[in-house]
Formats: sequence, C-alpha cells, structure tokens
Amino acid sequence: MIRIPVKTEKPYEVLVAEGLLQEAAARITALPQKPGKVFLVSDQRVYPLYGPRLEEGLQAAGFELRFCRFAPPAGEASKSLAAYQQLLSAMVQAQLSREDLVIALGGGVTGDLAGFAAATYLRGLPWVQIPTTLLAMIDASVGGKTALNLPEGKNLLGAFHQPAQVLCDPALLATLPAEEIKNGMGELIKTAFLDEGLWKRLEAWEGALPGAELIARAIQVKAALVAQDETDRGPRRLLNLGHSIGHAIEAASAYQIPHGQAVAMGLGSITRAAVRQGLCEGSALARLEAMLARHHLNQDNPFKVADLLPYMKRDKKAGSGRLTLVVPRRIGGCELREVSWAELPDWIG
Ligand SMILES: NC(=O)c1ccc[n+]([C@@H]2O[C@H](COP(=O)([O-])OP(=O)(O)OC[C@H]3O[C@@H](n4cnc5c(N)ncnc54)[C@H](O)[C@@H]3O)[C@@H](O)[C@H]2O)c1
Ligand SMILES: [Zn+2]
Repeated sequence: MIRIPVKTEKPYEVLVAEGLLQEAAARITALPQKPGKVFLVSDQRVYPLYGPRLEEGLQAAGFELRFCRFAPPAGEASKSLAAYQQLLSAMVQAQLSREDLVIALGGGVTGDLAGFAAATYLRGLPWVQIPTTLLAMIDASVGGKTALNLPEGKNLLGAFHQPAQVLCDPALLATLPAEEIKNGMGELIKTAFLDEGLWKRLEAWEGALPGAELIARAIQVKAALVAQDETDRGPRRLLNLGHSIGHAIEAASAYQIPHGQAVAMGLGSITRAAVRQGLCEGSALARLEAMLARHHLNQDNPFKVADLLPYMKRDKKAGSGRLTLVVPRRIGGCELREVSWAELPDWIG
C-alpha cells in the first residue's frame, strides 16, 4: 500500500493499492472520527459495478451503519443545482448528522457533487473519496476542490472541502472505457510535464493501464503543490498547464471534445508557442509530441486563434485584462506568467 500524506490545514492521506475497495470498510472504521452512518453517493454506471461490493464490506465490518444510496445519472449534467437539491433532500431523509460520513464512489462528477454537498450540508460533514476514473484518481480527488455547474458556466459554484481520506484502487480502472482512460492520460501527461521524475517514469512505462506506482507518483506531484498552496493563489496554479487553451477548446467545441483530450491539445499548443518564442527547449516539445502520440492524444488545436480568444477572456481564472498562463520552459520546469489580452494570440500555437 502506498500512503501519500496531503499536508493541508486539515491533513489526510491518499491510500493507493490494487484491491483497496475490498478493504474500504476497514479503512473507514480506522478513521480517527469513526462515523455513525455512511451515506454513499455514486452514479448509475459505477454503482452497479462497485457499489454492492463496497456496501457488503461496510456491513460486514460490523459497526452501526445505515445505507443511503443516491445514484444520479452518469455525466456532467449531474453537477447541477437540481441534482444537488435532490441529494440534499436524500441526506435530510437519511437524518445525516455531522458525526456521519459521505462516501463518493465514482469519477470527478460524483466527487464534485458529493463533495459540495458534504461541504455545505449542516455547514460541512466528513467525506471519503473512492475515485473510479483515472482522471479522478490523479486529479479530481486530490486537493479538496468541489464544484457544481451553473446554467451560465462550468464549476461556477464550489467550495474547498478536504476529504477525511481518499481510497484509490487502480483495479477499478479495468472497466473504464478507453475514451475515459485517454482523458485521464491527458491530465497525467500534463502533471508529468511539471515533474521530470514522473515524466521519465511515464516515458519508460509500457503498460496499457496505469498501475499503483505511476498513479501514486502523479498524486504526490499534485499533493505537493496543494500543500504549498491550498487555496490556489500561488504555485498550485501550475496544475493549470494546458488548461487556459484547453478550456477554450472544450467550450469552442460545445463540450464535444472531452476535458482531458482538450488539455492535451492545450498542452501541445502552448508548448509550440513557447518554443516559437525561444522560451522552451525544442527537445521538450519533441518529447511531448511523442508522448501524446503514443497515447493517441491529438495535439493539434482544431480551432483558429480568433475562435478561442473570447473563451479565454471569459475564463473564471482571468483577472481583469490579464490572464496568468503556465508557460513551459522544459520538462519539469514551468512558470506562471501574466499575459495581457493583446499578447494572448502569441501564446496559442
Ligand atoms: N475537483 C477537482 O479538483 C476536479 C479536477 C478535475 C476535474 N474535475 C471535474 O471532474 C469531472 C470529470 O471527471 P471524470 O472524467 O472522472 O468524469 P465522470 O465522473 O463523468 O466519469 C466519466 C464516465 O465514466 C464512468 N465511469 C466512472 N468510473 C468508471 C469505472 N471504473 N468503470 C466504468 N465506467 C466508469 C462514469 O459513469 C462516467 O460516465 C468534471 O466535471 C470536472 O470538472 C474536478
Ligand atoms: Zn484538468
């Protein structure tokens, strides 16, 4: 078992091991604050795959439990105010108190919805994340960000609420569709660009599904940035590498291009721009292109600069008239740079 401490104000651990789902009940029993009831949130695709097994384990663990299941439909639409309200009603019906525990079993959508409910119901109760997608394992379940979408845009409502624990079982990736693995790989390659050690591991890796070692290393890279900057005002923003352009590509495609794949395009785009400006080593771009190609990720931005600019200017992370971009210099060396609207076109490659 690999244990990764996340040194936030309220510290906790991410545990990574194949087969960890089987042990989830024991891990939850051992939490410093042993919960009364457990309220499980999952989506309609993930619940039938892993929910009953988790519930059996929790029941067999022998402490008093009341099971409440809530299974919103799978997909981004579940991060809505309507789904949130339904979830809160189910929590009230289950008479959840602050001594109880919410478990999010699913991808980033389930984590964001369940986490936001856990952050806000009764002003916050503890929660445990059991991520089931590669993206959620290496990204969404680390760092305590939770969010809902508003009709006006994605992730506009949210809270920081660190979980009590994250249980990451890479064996759960066996059932994940190939497109979702690709999404996670886009984000994993981005994280690796920030850390040369992880990048080298990824270059040397020949498997099809990332295992515990690789996943744990990616979590460590993110956890280290989160520990330095829990609320995302400083170095944590390096994790946005490829995202300013990536978010614009997602939006310009009317969300037909999925997030991780748009991030891969954004990463290719900004690295090309940085090389063109003499800021990034050409060899880093060549290695990035080889890596993206190996994982069947398209690195070409399919849009014109003019199509992307309006979305980049609307980015919620954009301050007035300027945007903080993450600029690649070399593998393992990226920096934050303030760029004005007028300069933005130079940064799209
Ligand atoms: N909070 C954060 O820090 C953070 C970070 C990154 C992304 N996010 C959010 O995460 C969301 C994307 O997460 P995602 O890519 O995990 O999407 P997702 O939760 O929608 O999962 C993708 C699909 O895979 C299915 N699935 C999940 N696990 C499975 C498994 N093991 N086997 C078979 N099918 C499975 C789901 O039902 C869904 O249909 C976005 O809403 C994004 O905004 C949040
Ligand atoms: Zn991302």
